[in-house]
Amino acid sequence: MDVAVQNAHSLTASIEKTLSDAVDGCTTVGAPARLAQALRYAVFPGGHRLRPRLCLAVATSCGKTDLRAAHASAAAIELLHCASLVHDDLPCFDDAQQRRGKPSVHKAFGERIAVLTGDALIVLAFQTVAEGASHVPAYLGDLMGIVAGSVGMPFGIVAGQARECEPHVALSSYHLEKTGALFAAATMAGAAASGLPFEAWRTLGERLGLEYQVADDIRDVAGTSEDLGKPVGQDLALGRPSAALELGLAGAVRRLDELVTQAVESIPNCDGAAGLRALIKIEAKRFLPAGVVRQAA
Ligand code: IPE
Ligand code: IPE
Ligand code: MG
Ligand code: MG
Repeated sequence: MDVAVQNAHSLTASIEKTLSDAVDGCTTVGAPARLAQALRYAVFPGGHRLRPRLCLAVATSCGKTDLRAAHASAAAIELLHCASLVHDDLPCFDDAQQRRGKPSVHKAFGERIAVLTGDALIVLAFQTVAEGASHVPAYLGDLMGIVAGSVGMPFGIVAGQARECEPHVALSSYHLEKTGALFAAATMAGAAASGLPFEAWRTLGERLGLEYQVADDIRDVAGTSEDLGKPVGQDLALGRPSAALELGLAGAVRRLDELVTQAVESIPNCDGAAGLRALIKIEAKRFLPAGVVRQAA
């Protein structure tokens, strides 16, 4: 197995530890117990942890050995992702009853706690970067800016979710904002936490995010809720723009393959480029449900 792939696996335990330290820090004795319980429930057990693994894979590929700032950024990005899922599942958005194989946060704790869980996770994300990267003040502004840009207005997750309230939605901007932006934060923060120019890493993250959202749209029509741990058929039922619904299943699979190729082509020059290429291809193979066949190797 390639060294970068091996590294990515061994980093998983540290991601869980950084997340757990962050959640422990804001759920201490005396904090509102229901909200503290819901925060932990929203973060653990995790899902694929794709975004933090991507952030750390980029940081290691950039040759960084002190990964503390990268770990803090990776954890912050995962906390923001968890927050986005809690809010996305609310009755006023997708009204999803299940997430990660268990009742969604609002089903388990009620809507008021679910709104506050998302809010608290967003704030915790920024605290995590501020504290975890305080030893490298020269990088802190960039890291904060990268992370904030991926969730806010005008082109972050909240903008993407707001597209659902507009009369016309272009699939590409919807996907780029609701999913691509956070993947781009992961690649850019990996480079910025290494003290490197980070803009060159944006395209890779955006393409990976687009690829992942196309795969998610395919899973929504061709997967099962047992396998995915969340409801399926939601995009059609809710009238959401979806690659599978706009392009058909075969067209969406072709689009996915194109995006994997484009992502690989956009890896900036770095020591670990070959390892990153391998990692992207391996991950992409796991994105589709059994029975949906990709054309490309
Ligand atoms: C789900 O993301 C939301 C999308 C942007 C498609 P993930 O599939 O990464 O969710 P988890 O973290 O693994 O549960
Ligand atoms: C969610 O997109 C993207 C977020 C910002 C959470 P989806 O609504 O397609 O994600 P799932 O299918 O609920 O995980
Ligand atoms: Mg949803
Ligand atoms: Mg979906």
